[in-house]
Amino acid sequence: MEHLSKENETQHDRISRALSQVVSDGSSFKNGDPDARQKLIASARELLYESESPVESLLWNIWALPTRTIAARIAVDLKIFKTACGNNSSPKTNEQLAAATSASPTLVKRVARTCASMKMLDEQGPGLYVPNALTRLLAQPEYAAGIIFCFDATHNSFSQMPAYLRSTGFQNPKDPTNGPFQYANKHDGHAFTWLTAHPETFQAFHGYVHTLRTHRPSWTDMYPVKERLVAGLKLEGDSSALVDVGGGVGQVLQDFNNAIPEYTGRLVLQELGEVIGAATAMDVGKSNRIELQVHDFFTPQPIKGARAYFMRSVLHDWPDEQCRKILGNVKDAMEPGYSSILISDCVLADKNAAWQHISLDFHMMALASSQERTEAEWYALIESCDGLKIAGIYSKGQGNESLIEVVCK
Ligand SMILES: C[S@@+](CC[C@H](N)C(=O)[O-])C[C@H]1O[C@@H](n2cnc3c(N)ncnc32)[C@H](O)[C@@H]1O
Repeated sequence: MEHLSKENETQHDRISRALSQVVSDGSSFKNGDPDARQKLIASARELLYESESPVESLLWNIWALPTRTIAARIAVDLKIFKTACGNNSSPKTNEQLAAATSASPTLVKRVARTCASMKMLDEQGPGLYVPNALTRLLAQPEYAAGIIFCFDATHNSFSQMPAYLRSTGFQNPKDPTNGPFQYANKHDGHAFTWLTAHPETFQAFHGYVHTLRTHRPSWTDMYPVKERLVAGLKLEGDSSALVDVGGGVGQVLQDFNNAIPEYTGRLVLQELGEVIGAATAMDVGKSNRIELQVHDFFTPQPIKGARAYFMRSVLHDWPDEQCRKILGNVKDAMEPGYSSILISDCVLADKNAAWQHISLDFHMMALASSQERTEAEWYALIESCDGLKIAGIYSKGQGNESLIEVVCK
């Protein structure tokens, strides 16, 4: 019914309705409602979609979006954002922006005006640029790293994905060593082996992922850590450990150590040798109590009966078959009634899933022939693992990762 009545509305009616929603969300924001800003973004987007004609929408998608992504990647190489912020953010000409890399001012003009048209930079006059809030963010290496990683690791795979899928008769990719990533990059093996052979890209990954997460709720904000992990903690040997399986360079454990000082057990970071090497070079483990351990999660879990085995953005890297192996290895080490597996990953809504979750789902397909999962898919996966069940799912805000608590049956 709603669909039918929407169909009968004129564009004018739809714009008026969307505009009223923007005004209403705008007043809630003004009145200090903590959720209103996210609602305002959603209603403002809706207003934009209703205001555009379908052809304008099409052109935005096929012309503007790819151009924005590519221009941003080139702008990072050209140090345009950083240079724009130099000298107290004074206005810069194309020649001044070009001087940082001795690039052609004509090329810089084309890139800078594109960035300005996409609001990554402000254009004060013809060929004269000043930074805005996004420019200032992108001038910082840890944020620019997001542009570098997402472009360098994923875009080859995105651009070849239609051809790859045609070549498979449009089957859902399931093989993490023979999928869109391998097809596009002529690479034999998992994207992780490609990344370990491209340490700068892998470093960009660990840097940007951590930085962006500081802007989103942490798992410790949604899961009752004190009740579930601190209370009843056994302090002897492996039982005291919180193990971060596939934990990157250790930021989760460092943040945990700062946020929950009451947790006096061991903090163990398990990762591939190359990543443990990077964590060691960053002095993780020296200045705090994090233990570093090389461990391949496809082999038996060496820490037995730990308090918890934490995995953030690990299972979304793998199709179900590999997830069952990873979970099975942890299950064999768990002490029933004491240990838990804590999975920090997206839980997609069945309808109108958040754009962050949907985009990550496509990134996972492009990189690892894997996927983000709905609640039903998480239940199906965990129930397909011998002896495990979901004890609870904790979430905070739209588009963020949830915390899935898994225990022995
Ligand atoms: C998406 S990252 C998540 C890293 C970290 N948990 C975080 O949230 O920042 C997945 C991690 O899994 C690690 N990994 C991949 N294969 C692995 C394996 N076989 N054994 C252990 N770790 C592995 C990668 O090195 C990578 O750091």
